[in-house]
Amino acid sequence: MPNTVIIGAQWGDEGKGKVIDILAERTDYIVRYQGGNNAGHTVVIGPDKFVLHLIPSGILHKGKKCVIGNGVVVDPRALLDEIEMLGSKGIEVDGRLFLSETAHVIFPYHKVLDELKEQKKKKIGTTKKGIGPCYADKVARLGIRVVDLLDKDILREKLENNLEDKNAILTKIYNADAFDIEKLYREYLDYGEKMRKYVCDTTVLLHDALKRKKSLLFEGAQGTLLDVDHGTYPFVTSSNATSGGAATGTGVGPNRIDKVIGVVKAYTTRVGEGPFPTEFSDDLMDTIRHKGGEFGATTGRPRRCGWFDSVVVRHSVKINGLDELVVTKLDVLDDLDSIKVCTAYRYNGRIYKDFPADVKVLNGCEPVYEQLPGWKADTTCITSYMKLPKNAKRYLKRMQKILGTKIVLISVGSERRQTFSSE
Ligand code: IMP
Repeated sequence: MPNTVIIGAQWGDEGKGKVIDILAERTDYIVRYQGGNNAGHTVVIGPDKFVLHLIPSGILHKGKKCVIGNGVVVDPRALLDEIEMLGSKGIEVDGRLFLSETAHVIFPYHKVLDELKEQKKKKIGTTKKGIGPCYADKVARLGIRVVDLLDKDILREKLENNLEDKNAILTKIYNADAFDIEKLYREYLDYGEKMRKYVCDTTVLLHDALKRKKSLLFEGAQGTLLDVDHGTYPFVTSSNATSGGAATGTGVGPNRIDKVIGVVKAYTTRVGEGPFPTEFSDDLMDTIRHKGGEFGATTGRPRRCGWFDSVVVRHSVKINGLDELVVTKLDVLDDLDSIKVCTAYRYNGRIYKDFPADVKVLNGCEPVYEQLPGWKADTTCITSYMKLPKNAKRYLKRMQKILGTKIVLISVGSERRQTFSSE
C-alpha cells in the first residue's frame, strides 16, 4: 500500500478509527503523529469494542508495528493503562509498539492547569487531559520529553525547574495546591522504567522501514477544523491535526507520503465550544445525536450535530491536499425526508465559498443550503455501492461534485463488514 495519511476533514470524530483499522490490514507500520489521549478512536470487531486513545488502532491487527511519533504528547499513566487493557484482551504490544524518545510528556500539573483554565467564562471546552498546557511547555522550551524520564538526574533537574514556575502559578494565581516534587519525581521515574522497552528513535525506525520498502499509515487525530493553524482558532486543539503534521510529527519528509485520505461524516459534529455554522437548532439535534451515538469517546460529552458543510470540507481538501474521501455514518441519515448540504455562507450580504478565518464571521454567518430528497430506507445491511437507494447515491454524487474529490469508501455502521467501496 502507498504511504498514506488519514485525517479527519471536519471537527474530529469522523470515524477515523474504523478506516485506519481497515487500511491497517494492508500496511506494515501505523503511526500516530500528533495529539494525545484527547483522541478516542473506536473500533468494533464482532462483539468487542475497543476505544484507543494513544496507541494507533493498527495494534488490533496481529503483527503490525505501531509507532507513537515525536509530535504526540504522552500521558504515561494513560499509555500504561491502555497497554494493560489490550493485554487483558489478549493483545500483546511488546515488540510491536514503539514510542518516540522525543515525544513530550504530560504531567499532572498540565491537567490541573487545563482544568483551571476551563473554569473561566471564556473556555474552549477542552478534554481536560492537559494537552494544551503540555504543548505550550514544548513550544516554550520547558517541556520534559520521554527520554528525560529515563535519566534520573535530568528528570529531577527539569522537574525542579518546571515546578518552580508551575507551583507559583497554581498557588498565587489560582489559589490551588502546589505539587510535591519528590512524589512526582518517583512516580514519573517509575513510568520511565515501565515504558523503557518501547522507547526508541522512531524517526530512525521509520526511515529504516522505508528503506526496506515497508508501508506506513499515518493516523491523524482530531480533525482539520481543530488544527491550531488552520482550524477555528482559538477553539482548536494545540497541534497540527492536518496532513502536514504527519511530516513534522514523525520526521518523515513530505515527499515520502504518497496519498492523503480525508474522513468525513455524512453530516457534521463538533465537541466543545466554538463556531459551527450548520448546527441544528431543532429536534434534529436530538434525533441525529441519538441515532449516531454522538457522545464523546473520551469524555462522554454529547456532540453538537448539524448538516454536512461543504465549505468546511472544501477547506480540508485544500489544507490537507486530499486525494480521496471516505464517507462514514451514511446510515444515520436513513430516516430523513430531506437532507440539506451547505454550499456557501452568507455574511453581511457577502457570499463566502472559502472558509473564513474570522471567528466573528463564522459566528454570524448564515449557511446557504441545497436540499436533497432523503432515501427513507435502512442502509445498514448494504454491502455494495450498487445496492444503495437511488437518493443515497444522489447525495454522495452531489457531495463528490461540490467537493471536487473522489469518494472511495462508504461506511454504514460501526462494524468492519459495514463498509464498501464506491465502485
Ligand atoms: P483539547 O485537545 O483537549 O485541548 O481540546 C481542544 C478542543 O478540541 C475541544 O473543543 C475538544 O472538544 C476538541 N477535541 C480534542 N480532541 C478531540 C477529539 O478526539 N475529537 C473531537 N474533538 C476533540
